[in-house]
Amino acid sequence: MNYGHFDDSTREYVITNPMTPWPWINYLGNEDFFSLISNTAGGYAFYRDAKFRRLTRYRYNNVPMDNGGRYFYINDGGTVWSPGWKPVKTVLDHYECRHGLSYTRIAGRKNDLEASVLFFIPLKSWCEVQLLTLKNTGRQPKRFKLFSFVEWCLWNADDDQNNLQRNLSTGEVEIDGSTLFHKTEYKDRRDHYAFYHVNAPVQGYDTDRESFAGLYNELSGPQAVLEGQPRNSCAHGWSPIASHCLEIELAPGQARELIFILGYVENAGEQKWESANVINKTNAQALISRFDTPEKARVAFNGLRSYWDGLLNRFVLKSGDEKLDRMVNIWNQYQCMVTFNMSRSASCFEVGIGRGMGFRDSNQDLIGFVHLVPDRARQRIIDIASTQFEDGGAYHQYQPLTKRGNDAIGGNFNDDPLWLILSATEYLKETGDFGILDEMVPFDHDETRAKPLFDHLKASFYHVVNNLGPHGLPLIGRADWNDCLNLNCFSTNPDESFQTTENRTGKTAESVMIAGLFVVYGREFARLCRLTGRQQESNTAEMHVSQMVETVKQYGWDGEWYLRAYDFFGRKVGSRENDEGKIFIESQGWCAMAEIGKENGMVEKALDAVKERLDCEHGIVLNNPAFTKYMIEYGEISTYPPGYKENAGIFCHNNPWIMIGETMIGRGERAWEYYRKICPSYLEDISELHKTEPYVYAQMIAGKDAHKPGEAKNSWLTGTAAWNYYAVTRYILGIRPDYDGLLIDPCIPAAWEGYEITRRLRDTTYHIRVSNPHGVSKGVMQVLVDGEEINGNLIPYSPGNVFTVEVTMGIMAPVLAH
Ligand code: BGC
Ligand code: NOJ
Repeated sequence: MNYGHFDDSTREYVITNPMTPWPWINYLGNEDFFSLISNTAGGYAFYRDAKFRRLTRYRYNNVPMDNGGRYFYINDGGTVWSPGWKPVKTVLDHYECRHGLSYTRIAGRKNDLEASVLFFIPLKSWCEVQLLTLKNTGRQPKRFKLFSFVEWCLWNADDDQNNLQRNLSTGEVEIDGSTLFHKTEYKDRRDHYAFYHVNAPVQGYDTDRESFAGLYNELSGPQAVLEGQPRNSCAHGWSPIASHCLEIELAPGQARELIFILGYVENAGEQKWESANVINKTNAQALISRFDTPEKARVAFNGLRSYWDGLLNRFVLKSGDEKLDRMVNIWNQYQCMVTFNMSRSASCFEVGIGRGMGFRDSNQDLIGFVHLVPDRARQRIIDIASTQFEDGGAYHQYQPLTKRGNDAIGGNFNDDPLWLILSATEYLKETGDFGILDEMVPFDHDETRAKPLFDHLKASFYHVVNNLGPHGLPLIGRADWNDCLNLNCFSTNPDESFQTTENRTGKTAESVMIAGLFVVYGREFARLCRLTGRQQESNTAEMHVSQMVETVKQYGWDGEWYLRAYDFFGRKVGSRENDEGKIFIESQGWCAMAEIGKENGMVEKALDAVKERLDCEHGIVLNNPAFTKYMIEYGEISTYPPGYKENAGIFCHNNPWIMIGETMIGRGERAWEYYRKICPSYLEDISELHKTEPYVYAQMIAGKDAHKPGEAKNSWLTGTAAWNYYAVTRYILGIRPDYDGLLIDPCIPAAWEGYEITRRLRDTTYHIRVSNPHGVSKGVMQVLVDGEEINGNLIPYSPGNVFTVEVTMGIMAPVLAH
């Protein structure tokens, strides 16, 4: 069953039934100021940090779900409704929600009155603009009351929900005509306030929630709205809100536009006050005046649209398969940008108070947006590296406001450092900006200990070399990429977290996944050394990498697939000797990408085992058989019921590792099959089962052992977005930036006839047409650049040009490897 459809011409997903299986959300904002918005206008706004600067209140895991938002109420002769259906839930004559790129348009119609709201955050501004259009589509004049509504969060979203003994006494507001100000704690340590404005005179307002709603009413039927009578309340403590009331008359056919602005203002020191206890509103007024007419709002909106046009023009695919094109050209890139901005902080599944910017997450996210905003990617790399320790180790996350690392969700995840090599080398390949390697970057934010970025990469590399276990494999530390494989934890206390609790200090538990990762990014490091004239460094690195390859062959191979780890006691994890968890996906992916033992058929065997044991209708599960009992020596992984999350869920993040692995041995059909299985646009028709948005990836789909296989959770903020984009564009479609040129190396189903791609890279535009006349999966026979044949499949860079590239696939090919 479908709840809507894609409109590729406007790059929108159009929801036509408000009762989606889960709130289907979108994100507004591109820098600094952000909002989440669901298909019924639920969600909240925040400035930079969803915990410390949350403007509006949202109630997670509530009944009904998706509770709290920016709501409009219309009282039209006693019929009360909301254009987004919720919160009133009056049945509408027409409903439509269009989620676009950084904007959402929600429209409802009831009894010949149409209300359509365009929500967006203009570029470079700290406010959400809501352009509301009201139209009388009937033959009779209309006179009705319109109420707006937001509920203020008392800034710290965590404290807001738990410190009621204080918070119910702190709320303060100011009312100034059509602008309602929220200034809680402004008089002491805060230098910021928020406001909600409408560009028209109001008949009344409310700023105190209970006065507006009535003590025992729900937001579906606030007393003021039901009676058509605002209370003109002024909040003192309790729960401050902002609600405007406008009385509106519309002749038949007449329309009226109103602009609502939800904004955030900072005023430093002496600028804080206009007079005693009266906030300085100059900055608020300046912000309002930028968008307070429909014309100004439309100009800002067009700016936003051009911004996205510019970004998405950098990679355009024409494959003839609209589901593929819309993912590659629109939604997957969009999700990568959102994930870049949010990391794992705020979604329907991340409550915006717990998770900062993850070290490994942010590095991996980067590979999905580096081609869109290379400058911001550069800054991100510096920010992340600045939190690193001198020995290469890392804080597991950092806080976006201060950019300082912390161990609130644990530390000593021994995969962390290597991801910095991934992000830095991808950035270099995309931009050629080798200067970044000389940039002085602090360790643990201490400027006195700053070293060139290159030294950080070296520290990452040697963090592995210096932390090897009894078999010579990398020690896992607290966990590797799989947060829940806690081999040193041994937790018996249900009140402690697996990630932060004291670990045993034994230096025995080893990770074969990190070994594979090390071979892939260790080679990248060695290659980078070579390219930058550090030959000796490169040789030494190569030596360590070769050593690791041998170690994996000797101790990391189980006969038919790669082992996953050795536990604290030195016993095999992910082996046929185990009763459960005989095989895991991560080490198959990384060791395949590292091509360890490819010459002996190990890669092929391992990937065949994945197909046989891990693959299912909905994707590749993480491990098999699923754990059915708690294994104290494995930790959190075995706490999940079978088929969910890290215990044999389809963890979409690592499916692309297998796709890429398949391309290493030229199996285009397999790579494509895996890609399609979890790609949301192909799942639209099973939305009822899949549950989350059909336009973005979810972190996890319940696996074959689950109660309900195919049901997804944790959409939006997941490394899945970047990795799938990376796998499909770089390895399946095979357009791969390298240091000296653009590499063309597709690996596709043999039946594909070809496709076209426009790729903008380093100010050069390539119009590439790939054709596959001989029906192969891999292999490039000929590449013509502007009609001239080149040697091999690497198109050397030549900045500032536009090239037409004709690629012919075929078996004769001398394919340049890597
Ligand atoms: C989740 C992981 C998450 C970890 C750390 C676990 O419960 O399953 O996905 O990374 O917690 O927060
Ligand atoms: C989600 C975390 O954000 C990520 O860092 C981790 O790798 C996966 N869960 C797998 O556990």
